[in-house]
Amino acid sequence: MNLKTKDVDRMAANKVDNGFYGQDIISVSQFDRTKLDYILSVATEMKVLVERFGSADLLQGKILANLFYEPSTRTSSSFMASMLRLGGQVIPINNVQYSSVTKGESLPDTVRTLESYADVIVIRHPEVGSAATAAHYASKPVINAGDGVGEHPTQALLDLYTIIEGLGDVHGLKVAMVGDLKYGRTVHSLTKLLVNYPVEFVFVSPDNLRMPGDVLSVVQASGHPYLETEDVHNIVGEVDVLYVTRVQKERFTDLAEYDLVKDRYVVDSELMSRAKERMIVMHPLPRVNEISYAVDSDPRAAYFRQMRNGMYIRMALLAAVLGKA
Ligand code: NCD
Repeated sequence: MNLKTKDVDRMAANKVDNGFYGQDIISVSQFDRTKLDYILSVATEMKVLVERFGSADLLQGKILANLFYEPSTRTSSSFMASMLRLGGQVIPINNVQYSSVTKGESLPDTVRTLESYADVIVIRHPEVGSAATAAHYASKPVINAGDGVGEHPTQALLDLYTIIEGLGDVHGLKVAMVGDLKYGRTVHSLTKLLVNYPVEFVFVSPDNLRMPGDVLSVVQASGHPYLETEDVHNIVGEVDVLYVTRVQKERFTDLAEYDLVKDRYVVDSELMSRAKERMIVMHPLPRVNEISYAVDSDPRAAYFRQMRNGMYIRMALLAAVLGKA
């Protein structure tokens, strides 16, 4: 990797190097156990900070450019809330049709523009590798908020945080991921992140939406046990985490194919009656029909806690890459 301005800046600033200062967050493969422990503990500090004081001035004077080429509710607004709660400011570009992208401006030029105004760029884009491209052109830190069917690293971090919060530990857990494992970037990132821990995987999907080979090969290479199945009923009683995903309609070229699989898995009270007493149900949201509303009041339903944890994790990441954690 070439030495970028951000590396030089880091050295010049002579900061205590937490391993994050000035860095991009593009993939979960950047994280080892030391870095994970660090971000998870800073996230807990952020949670305490928000609960006690609501906000702080840690990132006062810093500006985030929030660049979203795809729809988002939680990721976009939690990054904004994170920056605001830490005393920073945000340039929100949530609707690229009102930006020069509509005039044909390229991603590199858009990124070069935004980094001349902002200190950090968050990007969501429909193409795999787009965040890495943005990072290549930017000398300021770039955070991947979802690159097509590729990765969603900040989601995987908040998922890990939620698992530890809900079950106390990750060690020895059996984690089932259910639904669209082919196009779901959240399960790609979460799987690649969880290989840092001794867990067992169960991948539940229709045959045409199985976990991609490149993700499975990470699991195989690390020697973690895994099972692929189409049937959620057979496995629900054994798992500690049931991570449910939306079928990613926007990734299908043939909508008839989408219609065939869209309601394949529905977590309802009947399914939950077969689950362990101590387990959690997760979903990155938005849900369509995958989890019935009756499950929301089940104490094992962790998806609203998960969503809230997104803000603490993103506060931790913003503070870390800006050298203030
Ligand atoms: C997910 C995404 O965008 O990949 N949403 C999110 O960030 N919480 C999941 C989805 O859209 O289904």
